[in-house]
Amino acid sequence: MKKTLFIVLVFNILLCNAQKKEPIAGTVILYMSKHGTTEKIAGMIRDSLKDDKITVINLKNRRNPDISKCEMVLIGGSFHVGKIQKRLKNFCLRNEELLLTKTVGIFVSAMFTGDELMKEFNNAFSEKLRNHAKAIGFMGYEIYFEKMDPVTRKIMHKLTGEKQDIFKINYDNIKTFISDIRR
Ligand SMILES: Cc1cc2nc3c(=O)[nH]c(=O)nc-3n(C[C@H](O)[C@H](O)[C@H](O)COP(=O)(O)O)c2cc1C
Repeated sequence: MKKTLFIVLVFNILLCNAQKKEPIAGTVILYMSKHGTTEKIAGMIRDSLKDDKITVINLKNRRNPDISKCEMVLIGGSFHVGKIQKRLKNFCLRNEELLLTKTVGIFVSAMFTGDELMKEFNNAFSEKLRNHAKAIGFMGYEIYFEKMDPVTRKIMHKLTGEKQDIFKINYDNIKTFISDIRR
């Protein structure tokens, strides 16, 4: 019995690894998310596109997906202390030439607006990729104080001036992003 379970386990691990190496076709949404907001937005984009060839990948679980066969790549991340997730930034840099041959959309979750947001955004994605992107979406943000450690929570309460969690996803910008990428 134990032996059978072990064989099944090994088989599943091998299968899972083989699937992870397979090139992705159609549309892929690649994202990273600290407290779940960008993940939520990635799900909304997937649902809105209504395309059955959409793969959604959290780069936290799959470091280097093969996007060579994709037609469309939608990239999503969020800013924390001025920076986008390092793994997402590096993925874009490593795959830049390939991304420039595809339809690309970039969406971010951010609390800042205006010049501060543009500074973060320009620092997160190369000029070439930003200029190439067919759609760019600033999707607003959420703040979940309970998900933070006590020190961060205290700082964020002070910074935002809010005691309760904040829900400021920008649904209009999600709609615009979808229509831009479809155009
Ligand atoms: C500790 C902390 C630091 C943050 N720093 C920034 C920042 O520098 N710039 C910004 O635009 N938003 C900042 N935010 C807001 C996040 O980008 C926002 O909460 C976003 O919705 C998080 O998305 P995620 O859960 O997908 O990571 C910060 C949030 C937290 C909790």
